[in-house]
Amino acid sequence: MYAIIDGKATAEKIRADIKQRTKELKERTGITPGLAVVIVGDDPASKIYVNNKHKACEQVGFLSDVYALPEATAQDELLSLIDRLNSDPRIHGILVQLPLPRHLSEQAVIARISPEKDVDAFNISNVGKIVNGKFDFAPCTPAGVMKLLTEYGIDPSGKDCVVVGRSNIVGKPMALLLMHANATVTVCHSRTADLASHTRRADILVVAIGKARFITSDMVKPGAVVIDVGMNRDENGKLCGDVDFSSVSEKASYITPVPGGVGPMTITMLLENTLTAAEKHSI
Ligand code: GUN
Repeated sequence: MYAIIDGKATAEKIRADIKQRTKELKERTGITPGLAVVIVGDDPASKIYVNNKHKACEQVGFLSDVYALPEATAQDELLSLIDRLNSDPRIHGILVQLPLPRHLSEQAVIARISPEKDVDAFNISNVGKIVNGKFDFAPCTPAGVMKLLTEYGIDPSGKDCVVVGRSNIVGKPMALLLMHANATVTVCHSRTADLASHTRRADILVVAIGKARFITSDMVKPGAVVIDVGMNRDENGKLCGDVDFSSVSEKASYITPVPGGVGPMTITMLLENTLTAAEKHSI
């Protein structure tokens, strides 16, 4: 028997709380949290993500500005937009949707965002704080995973946690947050030898590799908590995760579905980080 970790319901509950805190902040200080989202180019998936972020902001009463720039935008133009947003008092959070077109340097762009407005927590100074364990923002997807574990009473302390994927956006910060929660963490990736020997030991398995239904039930320990960060289309165009849900769910104690698992939590954590930035601004 397995239980579904319902990211949609959890996200709605947290968003209701964010909406209330936003109202209180406005009443107390006159400040409306503001998020600027910058997208460069026409990547269809990125456009959907950005639109969802914009809608979520409006839902909780934030100001939300979307800057949709053409594919041919020069690095200097993008950097000067970030400079303007850094000094705009209405804006508390800045998010540049990744990936950027190849001619732009993601590192340089992220580095330009003021650390206090870096609600993705991708800026080196925020990454350093996360390594240290004292931070205001955590990257949205791993923060959302941690929130789901807490909401479902799953304590990583002392557990064997295996993270599959080592990206800066998910895998690396995920491993750090689990370590801060006293887990024993293994990070696996495309060059890991005998991946299944690692995943089979996991009490908590977090998968973020971007390969449709890659994790099969023979790779999972009975009773494991399985968190699927993937968002893929299968050969029939159907949305699916990195985990083969139908077989793995038979073995897991808890599992996140795709869609409706980690996805709704990512945007919720972005809202939370933006509200935190606005609240700090008001102190
Ligand atoms: N692209 C995919 N995930 C993310 C994210 O969390 N933040 C940004 N800025 N871009 C992304």
